[in-house]
Amino acid sequence: MGKQRGEKRVTPWLIMAAGTAVIGSLQFGYNTGVINAPQNSFYNETWSSRFSEPISQGTLTALWSLSVAIFSVGGMFGSFSVGIFVNRFGRRNSMLMANVLAFIAALLMGFSKMAASYEMLIIGRFIVGLYSGLSTGFVPMYVEEISPTSLRGALGTLHQLGVVIGILVAQVFGIESILGNATLWPLLLGFTLLPSVLQCVLLPLCPESPRYLLINCNEESKARTILMKLRGTEDVSEDMQEMREESLQMKKEKAVTIPELFRSSVYRQPIFVAIMLHLSQQLSGINAVFYYSTGIFERAGVSQPVYATIGAGVVNTAFTVVHSFSSAVICGGTNGFSCFPNCCHGILRWMSYVSIAAIFSFVAFFEIGPGPIPWFIVAELFSQGPRPAAIAVAGFCNWSANFLVGMCFQYVEQLCGPFVFIIFTILLLGFFVFTYFKVPETKGRTFDEISAGFRQSAGRGSDKYSAPEEFSTLRGDDPDL
Ligand code: GLC
Repeated sequence: MGKQRGEKRVTPWLIMAAGTAVIGSLQFGYNTGVINAPQNSFYNETWSSRFSEPISQGTLTALWSLSVAIFSVGGMFGSFSVGIFVNRFGRRNSMLMANVLAFIAALLMGFSKMAASYEMLIIGRFIVGLYSGLSTGFVPMYVEEISPTSLRGALGTLHQLGVVIGILVAQVFGIESILGNATLWPLLLGFTLLPSVLQCVLLPLCPESPRYLLINCNEESKARTILMKLRGTEDVSEDMQEMREESLQMKKEKAVTIPELFRSSVYRQPIFVAIMLHLSQQLSGINAVFYYSTGIFERAGVSQPVYATIGAGVVNTAFTVVHSFSSAVICGGTNGFSCFPNCCHGILRWMSYVSIAAIFSFVAFFEIGPGPIPWFIVAELFSQGPRPAAIAVAGFCNWSANFLVGMCFQYVEQLCGPFVFIIFTILLLGFFVFTYFKVPETKGRTFDEISAGFRQSAGRGSDKYSAPEEFSTLRGDDPDL
């Protein structure tokens, strides 16, 4: 059974620091959910006034898809650049600097209508994607590094909570009678400025990650002072000792670059686990729901599809607080079930309610299973040295799969109809089997213990990865986990 380390004390400082960081997650969620609102009429009007002819349906679809999907392209570049920032400028300052991107994006998108330029909107989406990609690396890393071992899992979920609240806020503000109309949509997009201003005010009051200060900068006394504040106690010897051990371990390792992650047998196993978990999150098809749910509900005969979409956002938020690995298989089941109402709604009217129930359950199980975990587990699977590179690689895979689903879903749906969800179900079942057999339990283990487990397993000289022994005993049999 995993020993619980450190005190489970949630101090105001810890909450303040983690809460400020997750404003970045909120921005990511907001910009994921907000794009439903801008009106196609803007593209049409701008095109007509420029070229004195109406825009063709093909060009309109292409421009629209580009506006949606370029966000994930920005995310891919952003997430890949995480390592460049965090080691040079620190975790907190990197988050602070990234806000410049959010400001630029908010201005570009907010003024695109006034300037009659859809190019500004598209570039703005790319830049806010860059910001979001960086945030998906910075936030979980910072939150994990400031949390006591015993609270790491719970606080790690805050990133996802920020994301889902952001999606929900965007869905609600995007209702036609609020901001999602032909006049006010620029305000809806420009709104992204406000959380950034708030984060810029609060971040300077938050501490730098003590792990970064001690392990990367050798600033032991600063790290101790910050830890005392974060933990609300003078006795931080256990944390300090643990970080010193990790620091010693790191001195034995060379600087870990991205290629090194794949070359070294010690890192190859955890990076594979990290990539698979991120792929399982996106290839569950969750964003097919969040990008296209209104159409899905409409085709299933739901009379108020927009409200059903908001309902999905509410369920998404509610279930984010409860999560566990074991639910991945149920998530796959309800996902598959989602296609049936769409097939039969012509025959059975009440099936539209079943479609709502199926999608809501899918979203619910996503959030207690493969939703929150990938974002925080990567920071746990790696020690300080390889952590930034690993987070960059995993985030890049996540955003690439996000892009793939966003771009291809509609085309695949045209090919196989509602049975498109069966593809996601099969993928999810595969990921479930992988997770069950290959992902170690990390709860209650220090970062150094987790990576020691992988070192040990690599050291046994086996080419084939097996979860470290100490984890396999923890995984299934411990009633406390
Ligand atoms: C995760 C995914 C994100 C998705 C969200 C839905 O954060 O990374 O792409 O939109 O969950 O809740």
